[in-house]
Amino acid sequence: MQAIIDKLTSTAAATRAEDLRAAFAADTHRFTHFSAALDDLLMDYSKCAVNEEIMTLLDELCSTAGVAEKRDAMFAGKAINFTEGRAVLHTALRNRTNTPVLVEGRDVMPDVNAVLAATGRFAEGIRTGKLKGATGKSITDVVNIGIGGSDLGPAMTTLALAPFHDGPRLHFVSNVDGAHIADTLKPLSAETTLFVVASKTFTTIETMTNAQTARRFVADTLGEGAVGKHFAAVSTALDKVAAFGIDSERVFGFWDWVGGRYSIWSAIGLPLMIAIGEQNFGRFLDGGHAMDQHFRSAPFRKNLPMLLGSIGAYHRNVLNYQTRAILPYDQRLVRFPAYLQQLDMESNGKSVTVDGKPVSGSSGPVVWGEPGTNGQHAFYQLIHQGTSIIPTEFLIAARGFESHLRHQHELLIANCLAQSEALMKGRTLAEAKAQLTASGMDEAQADFIAPHRVFSGNRPSITFVYDQLTPYALGRLIALYEHRVFVEGVIFRINSFDQWGVELGKELATGLLPVVEGKLAATGHDSSTAGLVATLLSRAK
Ligand code: F6P
Repeated sequence: MQAIIDKLTSTAAATRAEDLRAAFAADTHRFTHFSAALDDLLMDYSKCAVNEEIMTLLDELCSTAGVAEKRDAMFAGKAINFTEGRAVLHTALRNRTNTPVLVEGRDVMPDVNAVLAATGRFAEGIRTGKLKGATGKSITDVVNIGIGGSDLGPAMTTLALAPFHDGPRLHFVSNVDGAHIADTLKPLSAETTLFVVASKTFTTIETMTNAQTARRFVADTLGEGAVGKHFAAVSTALDKVAAFGIDSERVFGFWDWVGGRYSIWSAIGLPLMIAIGEQNFGRFLDGGHAMDQHFRSAPFRKNLPMLLGSIGAYHRNVLNYQTRAILPYDQRLVRFPAYLQQLDMESNGKSVTVDGKPVSGSSGPVVWGEPGTNGQHAFYQLIHQGTSIIPTEFLIAARGFESHLRHQHELLIANCLAQSEALMKGRTLAEAKAQLTASGMDEAQADFIAPHRVFSGNRPSITFVYDQLTPYALGRLIALYEHRVFVEGVIFRINSFDQWGVELGKELATGLLPVVEGKLAATGHDSSTAGLVATLLSRAK
């Protein structure tokens, strides 16, 4: 593999792949040559530092890394998450053809279908008012209590699909900071509120603490006997949910082969289903499934996850770009960068290979972003003129849902395309100077100012275009990014499906709690931690 990385490095330099202006000038069909599509989802990667030689090498990189074989092992239910001895089968949750998927010789599809049907019935019961609160009133507000994958997926998708909402209002509480639940509960009435406690393990301290606070909110207002009608749970730990006291008819399970950050397709999607209905949730699953089939069958140059993943690995490991910015020109994707942060960084933020050796080169990049056009007035300055090269990923719909605001959508498109064009083209010193003198500035002043108005250009970007942000389009987009993370993980030779780094933080926080509560001395902790504990304790009084 290192040999191909080295070859990519030398080919990129020898073919001046990074000179994008020259590449577009030399090939007027560059867009056609370096773009691919799945139905209406277009991926334009022509503004990346690639050429035919590099694409051939990236194809070779995927083959040498064994991307196709490992992909097939994942879909076949092999225990590819070997540090936890688990299969990785979020794809089974959206397996709309219902072909058997075997885990240790047992087809998981009947269970998947049964839980999907049960969540559908429950969601419809809440939406239609058939399932009421303890005082006989319909549910108007649903509060999802979860964190990480048990929050980001439902929260991001619910926001993204706002035009499809025709159910109760949705709220999301994740942070253990009491401010989060207090502010959320303030405008709500216990009588008309349903809490969904979402936790794969049902041990996560943030979620358990917030769930207890919510329980008190209901019990204090409506009495202990009312709790059952105001709670539901989603978890793999059914025994722990029972201990919490949630009626088994309102508990929806999933399985250890669904990673938290891949769980939106499971019963964790219940809040989304309550918001948009069972049928639209089905379209969301259909979109994910369409991307799965594409990933499994399309040849490299047409395969969006393979292209996105191999170009991402090329950016990270060959060109040494340390971060990537996700820039949706779609306000409703406001939480998509945060969602991808967990998906990508929790999956590929690793430094040990599958053989237990240190990763040579780099693993996953820092992922960040904000919707355009807001980001333009915040951090784009650095993307255009800063000293770091930041590959950007733009996302834009051909149509918004606000047909009466068509002009605003045109402005959005113009901004999106202008950014990627400017990043690619830049502005030379001569162009900057010519612009200044044309505006009436004298030569000496133009010479002085022009360097500040130079943009190096050659800054890579990928643009995704889709017709409209429907449930189907969103499902397809999320699955695309899931598979991109998979492809990159295979190339980095890491296990993308565990998260021991996060587990460490959980352990340490649990150990520190009695110290912060003042029940245990800070002995054994470093002087900084002990000093901070002492300061906070003295000020809390
Ligand atoms: O952040 C670590 C993590 O384990 C995530 O993978 C998971 O999505 C999150 O915690 C929440 O865990 P749970 O669903 O078990 O409460």
